[in-house]
Amino acid sequence: MKAVKITDKIYWVGAIDWNIRDFHGYSTNRGTTYNAFLVFDKKTVLIDTVKEHFYHEMRSRINDALGARKIDYIICNHAEMDHSGALRAAIADFKPQKVFASTLGAQNIKAQLGADLPIETLADGAALDIGEDSFTFLESRMLHWPDSMVALLNKENILFSNDIFGMHYACTQRFDHEANREDWIYEFRKYYANIILPYSKIAGAFLKSVEQKGISPRIICPDHGLIWTKQIPDIMNMYHDFASQKSKRKAVIVYDTMWGSTEIMASHVADGLVSAGLEVKVFNLHHSHRSDVATELLDASAIIFGTPVINQEIFPSLGDVCTYLRGLKKEGLVGGAFGSCGWSEPALSKMEELMETLGVRPAAPMVKCKFTPSQEKLKECFDLGAAVGSAVK
Ligand code: FEO
Repeated sequence: MKAVKITDKIYWVGAIDWNIRDFHGYSTNRGTTYNAFLVFDKKTVLIDTVKEHFYHEMRSRINDALGARKIDYIICNHAEMDHSGALRAAIADFKPQKVFASTLGAQNIKAQLGADLPIETLADGAALDIGEDSFTFLESRMLHWPDSMVALLNKENILFSNDIFGMHYACTQRFDHEANREDWIYEFRKYYANIILPYSKIAGAFLKSVEQKGISPRIICPDHGLIWTKQIPDIMNMYHDFASQKSKRKAVIVYDTMWGSTEIMASHVADGLVSAGLEVKVFNLHHSHRSDVATELLDASAIIFGTPVINQEIFPSLGDVCTYLRGLKKEGLVGGAFGSCGWSEPALSKMEELMETLGVRPAAPMVKCKFTPSQEKLKECFDLGAAVGSAVK
């Protein structure tokens, strides 16, 4: 397989995973890529590897770019197995002089792949001379794991950003200007909403620190998705908005239904929200994935949950989505709840209690109904939507 030239000195030697549809609980409907890069100077450097299963693909691309040369150094920016999984095989085949990771990276790689791996550690701000050019390493803790770091190739002014600025998007195009803009914007937002969102304060501080250091890369090479060349101002602006959790007048309704009552209620709640001037996205959890809900919630100001009752509990899909969203820590949400039961009305209150564990501020009491909603109950649903809409600043 062919390596892809980025500059005279740098090649993409990663792998394309067309078929992955679940990335630790996140639906990856367009697949993903595991990006790895070869840098040629007096020393030849491999930056990151790929998921173990894709090692043959990376090795083939490395050999295509490498020719008779040898790999001198491997840099492992992040210990998660989508980037470190093929490290042991790469060390065995290419026999680098040195392998580098952050201090926590070395610990986490050894904890996953074996304590015998020979890894040297790099402190925050460390430099590595490779001949005419040099790397500077910056820790990027929690973006996405405590061990994460990024590598700046100084003279070339190229940032190898690991998970930051990445997205799960399999395609044959490697560069931003070659790909369909609508597709990549969705996947870029989805990646942030499902991977980086809980660490937004850290992401904001990281962006600020990069700017304060005067770093303004001409190319950004993340470990998933497209290589950024033409769209860097756009993705930086988007990241600033994401990191500040900028929201608009938009609400997300998430519900499940057993015999259609909660579904009818959801449509009337949506009408109430629209009457207050909000954009509304509605998800029936029978047909929608939690990570698509999270994606729409990224720039939303409100969320409203609807549930039926089964065996004196709220519907399990609502428990799933709330557990997931609680972990993502979207801030500043107002909201509400509605639901229908047969006879266990007290169970509906569990939905309100669960919603409050997400930090959602209720704008009105929950609308509770028995069996099929009456016209009066549907009016209460409309009023709930209108009240939540009015509570959005
Ligand atoms: Fe792409 Fe956190 O690994």
